[in-house]
Amino acid sequence: MTKALAHPNIALIKYWGKQDKLGNFPATPSLSITLDGLVTETVLTDGSTDRFVINGKEQDDPKVAGFLGALRASLSVPPLEIETVNNFPTGAGLASSASGFAALMTAINAHCQFGLSTEMMSDWARQGSASAARSMYGGFVSLVPPLWRAYPAANVDHWPLNVVIAITSEEKKDVGSTEGMRRTAATSPFYPAWVKDAPEDYATASEAIAQRDFAALAGVAELSCLKMHSIMLTSVPTLSYWNPTTLSCMDGVRDMRRNGIAAFFTIDAGPQVKVVCLPDSVEQVQATLRDIPGVLTTKVCALGGNARILD
Ligand code: DP6
Repeated sequence: MTKALAHPNIALIKYWGKQDKLGNFPATPSLSITLDGLVTETVLTDGSTDRFVINGKEQDDPKVAGFLGALRASLSVPPLEIETVNNFPTGAGLASSASGFAALMTAINAHCQFGLSTEMMSDWARQGSASAARSMYGGFVSLVPPLWRAYPAANVDHWPLNVVIAITSEEKKDVGSTEGMRRTAATSPFYPAWVKDAPEDYATASEAIAQRDFAALAGVAELSCLKMHSIMLTSVPTLSYWNPTTLSCMDGVRDMRRNGIAAFFTIDAGPQVKVVCLPDSVEQVQATLRDIPGVLTTKVCALGGNARILD
């Protein structure tokens, strides 16, 4: 039996869109923070055939099956019973596939005694879900060309940011990221501009993180999020991951900023709003979000560490 843990990450500079080649390579550079309060734990045991159980429910997951198939083309992986538990809503825009594939790859490496480096595990995790490459590492993490391998841009202690997550729905999303990206690349008239601008946004955010310049990071991160949602909204058929509460939270963050509180929002392929702030604003940010009608719960996270094996 082998047990591994990984944290989800949220991208401040978003990945949305893939290169036109095998291996699940992103079309845009991305930069994320890993979150400590959210956890995926995965237990592996040898089985007679593969079984995948998530939060107590057996599932046929084509992404997991495809991932195991790709691994087995290179490495000798026996049939596995995989039991995964998330302490947060699954498939609802909280990066469960990122922490899921990072935990799974970490567990497989130990269980099968492959001795792969973190770089190699991150490479494999990317093939399961590109954001999972980033969840192999804690702190601030880049996923960039030319190798499209994730690497730690700054460690957890570099800048103690907090994230307050406003959960506005626990429903599973209708359109997953992979299908959403395919649709956007094929149909949004603004997709080429998105791909073209991304390297500059990435560079601006990297510099803001290096300098611990919150205002600069806030500006470019919110813009990256809104550009991504603009190309989602202009896909055909449209991809709208927001609900009315998502919009109220965005307004709430803008109001806080007008009142001098350093905070910015980011939103992924789901209706949850993640508000990044400095530690001395956490209480105010959480209190404001909690009072917005439609917010079900809030959760405060600090930056989390690497994916790892649990004894
Ligand atoms: C909006 O990594 O879930 O969260 O590679 O197809 O599995 P696949 O996509 P995935 O997409 C994440 C998209 C995002 C932005 C981000 O995390 O960079």
